[in-house]
Amino acid sequence: MDVLTALLLVHLIPVSTPKNGMSSKSRKRIMPDPVTEPPVTDPVYEALLYCNIPSVAERSMEGHAPHHFKLVSVHVFIRHGDRYPLYVIPKTKRPEIDCTLVANRKPYHPKLEAFVSHMSKGSGASFESPLNSLPLYPNHPLCEMGELTQTGVVQHLQNGQLLRDIYLKKHKLLPNDWSADQLYLETTGKSRTLQSGLALLYGFLPDFDWKKIYFRHQPSALFCSGSCYCPVRNQYLEKEQRRQYLLRLKNSQLEKTYGEMAKIVDVPTKQLRAANPIDSMLCHFCHNVSFPCTRNGCVDMEHFKVIKTHQIEDERERREKKLYLGYSVLGAHPILNQTIGRMQRATEGRKQELFALYSAHDVTLSPVLSALGLSEARFPRFAARLIFELWQDREKPSEHSVRILYNGVDVTFHTSFCQDHHKRSPKPMCPLENLVRFVKRDMFVALGGSGTNYYDACHREEF
Ligand SMILES: *[C@@H]1O[C@H](CO)[C@@H](O)[C@H](O)[C@H]1NC(C)=O
Ligand SMILES: *[C@@H]1O[C@H](CO)[C@@H](O)[C@H](O)[C@H]1NC(C)=O
Repeated sequence: MDVLTALLLVHLIPVSTPKNGMSSKSRKRIMPDPVTEPPVTDPVYEALLYCNIPSVAERSMEGHAPHHFKLVSVHVFIRHGDRYPLYVIPKTKRPEIDCTLVANRKPYHPKLEAFVSHMSKGSGASFESPLNSLPLYPNHPLCEMGELTQTGVVQHLQNGQLLRDIYLKKHKLLPNDWSADQLYLETTGKSRTLQSGLALLYGFLPDFDWKKIYFRHQPSALFCSGSCYCPVRNQYLEKEQRRQYLLRLKNSQLEKTYGEMAKIVDVPTKQLRAANPIDSMLCHFCHNVSFPCTRNGCVDMEHFKVIKTHQIEDERERREKKLYLGYSVLGAHPILNQTIGRMQRATEGRKQELFALYSAHDVTLSPVLSALGLSEARFPRFAARLIFELWQDREKPSEHSVRILYNGVDVTFHTSFCQDHHKRSPKPMCPLENLVRFVKRDMFVALGGSGTNYYDACHREEF
């Protein structure tokens, strides 16, 4: 299959239509169901989900609650939108993708021009250093490495608009005279994450007033702030990388494919592999740009499928071996701890930080998903969103509950802290205490050691 045929398939993928609760279809897209999904995952189908090419009306389960529930706060973790590759395939022409934002190119969003015009007026003092030095929107006629594309901007304008309709228009999360301290905004220091956050906010906020925006800078992709030092986490990561390496060696078809591609581009196989060609190939794929050719031949769809299939197998083994889970529990604890802290303050009636946005990476979302027990969730696609909603029961105002949504699908009852809760309780959400207990203590149980807090688990000797 060529890139074109693959892209045309986008339109054949059924749009999920959740009505009440989780429809089987919507669950299928996010959380593969071993009963109904074919055992062999289709690499092209998976790659298309990863591209997340903006289409018309997206349906989502955010904000669904019985009418006697009041929305208290919302915590949003996003992966940046579609970007140019981080690596080049050696000795090939890099894909010609235009990162300027223009109205007559697809995908398009009605707020695109207004976004550019607003961003180009400059920001004043809205960013913690060193974010001030970053451009506020993508603007290179030939994208720079890692630059957000128009697709990426549109993905997040769309996310923002969707969240605005639900959280602001329907649930009135922010008062009309909202102020800066009702938002909490944090991003890593890459232009693609800052720009993704800005695009989402531009779609979300009723008036994007630079005076009410303040983005903090997060140096760590784990968002671990002052608690990043954790030796055991690094040990898990090393073992996980070793596992990855051994799995790759076992895959002779993969080795053959890298060999073929290395011949085409005329570099040693090792050098090609180190250049992480799948990152660049996904860009070709998502943008309907044919794979590169040299006078020795062309990289083609069969190569792509083999590497993508291996990625899927790698994720499967990663779940089984649980080393990544250990890494994830320790990697995600600080940000989860921060989030429950923010939730608890909101339950005490504090009106600050009602909407928190963390603009991040796949290596941020993936450990959080895994730590929450959502290891079946698909790898974070471009512009993926993971949302924590905090609700108050108006009939029992002392009771607070949470919902967890991944790309619009309610995954609350797939998490390890709330599995099967809905079978015992009529409430369509999870008690906040469950999440708090999990983050403060229970999540460390997955590590199998004796540690029941972050510090002990990070410094375990017997590991
Ligand atoms: C992909 O690109 C080809 C030209 O290379 C074009 O004819 C086709 O319409 C494009 N397909 C999509 C889905 O954009
Ligand atoms: C967890 O959050 C509390 C405040 O809510 C803080 O005092 C504590 O240091 C945090 N722990 C870690 C490991 O981040």
